[in-house]
Amino acid sequence: MIHFDAVQKAFGHGTTRVEALRGIDFDVPRGQMCAIMGPSGSGKSTLLHLVAGLLHPDHGRVLLGDRELSAMSSDDLSLMRRREIGIVFQFFNLLPYLTADENVALPLRLDGIAHDEERERVARAMDMVGMTHRKNHQANSLSGGEMQRVAIARALAISPSVVLADEPTGNLDSIAGRQIIELLRMLNEDLGVTTLVVTHDPVWGSFCDRIVRVSDGRITEDIALTGSGGAGRA
Ligand SMILES: Nc1ncnc2c1ncn2[C@@H]1O[C@H](COP(=O)(O)OP(=O)(O)OP(=O)(O)O)[C@@H](O)[C@H]1O
Ligand SMILES: [Mg+2]
Repeated sequence: MIHFDAVQKAFGHGTTRVEALRGIDFDVPRGQMCAIMGPSGSGKSTLLHLVAGLLHPDHGRVLLGDRELSAMSSDDLSLMRRREIGIVFQFFNLLPYLTADENVALPLRLDGIAHDEERERVARAMDMVGMTHRKNHQANSLSGGEMQRVAIARALAISPSVVLADEPTGNLDSIAGRQIIELLRMLNEDLGVTTLVVTHDPVWGSFCDRIVRVSDGRITEDIALTGSGGAGRA
């Protein structure tokens, strides 16, 4: 599903040049939930941005299915992001003065989805994340965990084939964090969404099928977790 082939990516020039990724070979099969862990600055977010087509590699290739992202036009890439990739960040990125429902509806509206279908998809996504009871609340009145659930609903409403989550629990306490990881796991299993999640906490990593450790732009460890549904599940 996701394929990295000898990917290198650097930023800056001269003395400020940073080799963010120094040769990444990496395959994520369809339906897998893969945790990416590693120290700050090791290249985790860069990796996710490459999958989203927000960055292009300097060398090597990134493929989503059979499409090489660098070969796609920027219009096709934005369409792909809008229709196929759900993105969840550490800082929820909701529009504060819109309601929860309105936030979830935004990407559908951008995509010109008909009103009835929009309502239906928003209701379904909000139900999946357990936020129906807050659907008319303004985003800035929600708790951190609730905001993140709405952000996940927004990512889901498009029926993505891939979800990219960059430290989705980074701003949450451990209980809310656990709920978010369990939610991502449930959606991965129920909907078969291929999921890449950057996380600092090994506990969250253990909810995944696999943990990939990145250090200084290289993969240093690639651990398959045993048992159906990952080692962290009861
Ligand atoms: N747009 C950019 N311009 C310049 N340097 C960048 C840019 N994006 C990332 N870098 C550098 O590339 C390296 C990897 O960054 P990246 O954001 O991928 O790290 P990370 O593993 O996500 O770190 P963190 O855990 O702190 O989020 C860092 O040294 C960073 O400073
Ligand atoms: Mg990062």
